[in-house]
Amino acid sequence: MPTTLELPKIYEAAQDFMPLNGTDYLELYVSNSKQAAHFYKSAFGFQSHAYAGLETGLQDRESYVVIQDKIKLVLTSPLKSGTAIGKHIDSHGDGVKVIALWVDDATAAYENAMQRGAKSFLEPTKESDDNGSVVRSGIYTYGETVHVFVERKDYNGLFLPGFKKWETPNYNPESVGLKYVDHMVGNVELGRMNHWVEFYEKVMGFVNILSFDDNDISTEYTALMSKVMSNGNGRIKFPINEPAEGLKRSQVDEYLDFYEGEGVQHIAVATDDIISTVRQLRSRGIEFLRVPDTYYDAVTDRVGKIDEDIAPLRELGILVDRDDEGYLLQIFTKPVEPRPTMFFEIIQRKGAQSFGKGNFKALFEAIEREQELRGTL
Ligand code: FE2
Repeated sequence: MPTTLELPKIYEAAQDFMPLNGTDYLELYVSNSKQAAHFYKSAFGFQSHAYAGLETGLQDRESYVVIQDKIKLVLTSPLKSGTAIGKHIDSHGDGVKVIALWVDDATAAYENAMQRGAKSFLEPTKESDDNGSVVRSGIYTYGETVHVFVERKDYNGLFLPGFKKWETPNYNPESVGLKYVDHMVGNVELGRMNHWVEFYEKVMGFVNILSFDDNDISTEYTALMSKVMSNGNGRIKFPINEPAEGLKRSQVDEYLDFYEGEGVQHIAVATDDIISTVRQLRSRGIEFLRVPDTYYDAVTDRVGKIDEDIAPLRELGILVDRDDEGYLLQIFTKPVEPRPTMFFEIIQRKGAQSFGKGNFKALFEAIEREQELRGTL
C-alpha cells in the first residue's frame, strides 16, 4: 500500500500513449433536460451556457449545457420514443452516459485505445461551424458508460459545433463556488473491479494509485472494495468500487440493482471554500448525508489542527480526513434522482491527495441508515 508521498513515483509508471488534458464535459441522459438544467442552475449554482435541439435543427433530442468554472454538464433528453437515449433512461434512470476527456488528438487517442482492446462507441468524427472544428471519438467503459475524446485545438466556439448560446436574461442564480471535477467513481459488479482496473491500465495507460479492501471499507453490516485509477498527470481519477461480502446488502449492491447495471456512482467536485459552498447548497435545497454529532467530538484528536473552526463543520455536517501531505474536507449529497443511484461529493483539498479513508466507516453507516429507510439494506 503506497503512501501518497510515493504518488509522484507511481505516476511515472503511467503510460503516456494517451495524454489527457483534463475532464471536458459530463453528459447525463435525463428524462427532462429542461427541468434538469433548471435544477442544476437553481440548486447547484451552474450557469446557462449552450443549447441544441429543435431550434438548432435536431429532430430526436435536446441538450442544455450548464457551466460552473471548469465543470460542464450536458443534460440530454430524447424528443421521441424508441431512441438509444430513451432506452438508456428506461434502463438506468437519469445518469451519466459520457465522461468526456479533453485530448490534443482524438483520432490518435481512439486508435490507441482500439489497438489495446477497447470497444468502440464513436469513430473519430469531425464537426465544424463558423468557429472551427472539433474532432470527437469514443469508447465504452463499465456498463453503458462511455469515454468521449474531445479535440478542440481548432475550435474557438462556445461548446461544440451545433450548439448555440443558451441565454436566460431573467434567471441566472449565482455560482456556489464549484471549480472542477476532482474524481468520478464507478460502481461495478461483484468480481469485476480488477477487470476494470486492468482496462484503465491497459487501454488508457492509467495507474492504480490507491487500493481499499473490505477491511478498510466495512461496517458491522456491509462492505465494499475500491481501487483508484489515475492518468499520468493526476488530473483524471477514477475510483472503481465493487461490492464485498457482508451481513446485509451494501450501497454498491443497491446501486447496481437500481441502475440496473454498472455506472457512475458519484461525481466529486472541488471548491476552495467548502463551508461557503455547502451553506449555499443547503439553502438552495440540496440534501446531504449526516454523520452522528459524536463524529465531531473525536475529529480534532483524529486529524489534528486544521484551519477551520469545528463549529461550522459540525453545523453543516462536513467531514475531515488527513493523510501524509495534508487534509481534506468533504461531504456527500443524497442521490439527486428518484432511484438511489448517482450523487455528488463536494471536496476541498488542503494538501491531501487521498479520498477520505478515515471517514468511510461513519459515512457508510450514514448510507446504511438511508438504505434502511428505503428498505434496501
Ligand atoms: Fe469520492
